[in-house]
Amino acid sequence: MVAEHGVGGGNGRGESPRSILQSDSGLDLASDFWMHRHFRAMAALYNSLLNEANLLPGDHVLDLGCGSGTHFDWIAALVGDDGQITGVDSDPDNLAQARERIADKPYRDRVMLQEGSLTEPLPFADGTFDFVWCAGSLQYVPTPVETIREMMRVVRPGGRVAVQDVEMTSMLLGPMPDELLIALKGSLPRGYTSGDEHHDYVDWLIGHKLRSYFVAAGLREIRGVLRTRVYTPPFTEDERGFLDVAVPYLSTGSPGIQDLSYRQVLELQRLVDENSPDYLLDQPDFIFVEGRSLAVGIR
Ligand SMILES: C[S@@+](CC[C@H](N)C(=O)[O-])C[C@H]1O[C@@H](n2cnc3c(N)ncnc32)[C@H](O)[C@@H]1O
Repeated sequence: MVAEHGVGGGNGRGESPRSILQSDSGLDLASDFWMHRHFRAMAALYNSLLNEANLLPGDHVLDLGCGSGTHFDWIAALVGDDGQITGVDSDPDNLAQARERIADKPYRDRVMLQEGSLTEPLPFADGTFDFVWCAGSLQYVPTPVETIREMMRVVRPGGRVAVQDVEMTSMLLGPMPDELLIALKGSLPRGYTSGDEHHDYVDWLIGHKLRSYFVAAGLREIRGVLRTRVYTPPFTEDERGFLDVAVPYLSTGSPGIQDLSYRQVLELQRLVDENSPDYLLDQPDFIFVEGRSLAVGIR
């Protein structure tokens, strides 16, 4: 049922729809609630992108912006018993969830968790790691090249840096008139959004720029992929759980919506109104496409 899962329904704890999508530090789409739904729906794609990054047995991996440790199981399996993971995130709540997640895992003693920021010097000596993995987090950083240089500093010479992030240039949502879809795409956040200090920067179009950022930072042998995830009915439970939250957010709650005309805003509100005959998620020709990009380079 939409009402149970929907963003409009809150979380049953009386919190506002937006707050359940925000991390404790106030970033949109960085809460554990959101991460779990998005991650479950995207698991196959995320796993394929991590596999493209070519982690090696024995690697000491820095998972930068690790969130609630969504990638830890996969990374631990790839690096094996001789590998290690250091997870860094700025959000203490997400780190606490990560700690809980690994509490009964066989690899738990090979994971270290630490609070830290992608926008400040990392608390590690030069060349500490074999590999830096950064998924879904660089989008929040206004100075991505500086952050990538910092990633390079903490990997050893010959070590690798991999960033996986959102690419919404390829976003589709429908059925809706072309003009409305183009306007919605044009409104996607890609920079400073509001005056709100907590969620004032996000770039949903970062994916196609990762290669340029890697070049500017001085990484070598850069390669990358761009993949799309297409959602059409019938939905799996995981897909529905994600779409119930994502589609209303994208259509009525994302930071760029304020730039649309009043008529466009009303039209989008109607398309995500469960009582409307045009409710998007009930349409047999519903489609949602989101893109995800990966870049890998060598120091
Ligand atoms: C969308 S989640 C992605 C988490 C995880 N890497 C994944 O792929 O599922 C983004 C994470 O980046 C973290 N984050 C955002 N800005 C950050 C910053 N400046 N420094 C450190 N972590 C940051 C958030 O707290 C959140 O846990």
